[in-house]
Amino acid sequence: MWFVRLLSSSIGKKLIMATSGLLLVLFLMTHAAGNATIFMSSDVFQGYADELHSHPLIVLIFSISLLVLVLCHVAVGLYLFWENRQVSTSRYIITKRVVKNSFASETMPYTGLVVLLFLSVHIFGFTFSPKHVDISVTVKNLLSNFFYSLFYVIAFIALTIHLSHGFWSMLQTFGINHPRYNTLISRLTLGIPLFFLLIFGGVALYFMTGLGANY
Ligand code: HEM
Repeated sequence: MWFVRLLSSSIGKKLIMATSGLLLVLFLMTHAAGNATIFMSSDVFQGYADELHSHPLIVLIFSISLLVLVLCHVAVGLYLFWENRQVSTSRYIITKRVVKNSFASETMPYTGLVVLLFLSVHIFGFTFSPKHVDISVTVKNLLSNFFYSLFYVIAFIALTIHLSHGFWSMLQTFGINHPRYNTLISRLTLGIPLFFLLIFGGVALYFMTGLGANY
């Protein structure tokens, strides 16, 4: 089958990582835009959430697709990590790695696992929150807990580090690498994750510091 053949080749696995990563970043962009309405008012945010949930079939298809993407990304990512370890501990390796080594690239599996832990806590708290409580109230209640928000902020920093390398790596896999655009590419690979940190971290800090006490 084509999928098995794709999985068994090294470029195939990289393509799966890059494509699922890109789609997850697109999800994060829409999620960040939705979350930005929190800063407007609880009514605006609640209106946005209600509008979204007035299309249950679309929400269901979207959620299942997200789950499949996350599972693919995590499973193939862990497999690549295991494969790289096998190679780097082999006695027969005489060539040096040519990939960009940075703190972000070295810690990809660990920052990824922090984000995965965050996702489990997050989905348990928000997606499976009691249906009779408005989601804007749930956001305020959960994020007003200092330690819950602190965990969020730590996870968002891990997400920023993860994306700063992931985004760069994705562009390399897609062959987007030209001396003329490399400065722009480096700025983008840092700018987009920092933008996410600003929006998501801003929401957590808003409630954590008590600024959103009257939300
Ligand atoms: C402070 C920041 C964040 C807030 C306030 C927030 C808020 C929410 C809310 C309210 C929902 C439930 C939507 C609903 O069912 O009505 C949700 C779902 C979700 N969030 Fe977040 N979120 C934040 C950050 C993030 C981040 C950084 C990620 C990814 C790394 C993420 C991933 C998800 C996912 C995967 C779902 C489930 C979506 C689905 O089932 O369709 N969220 N979030």
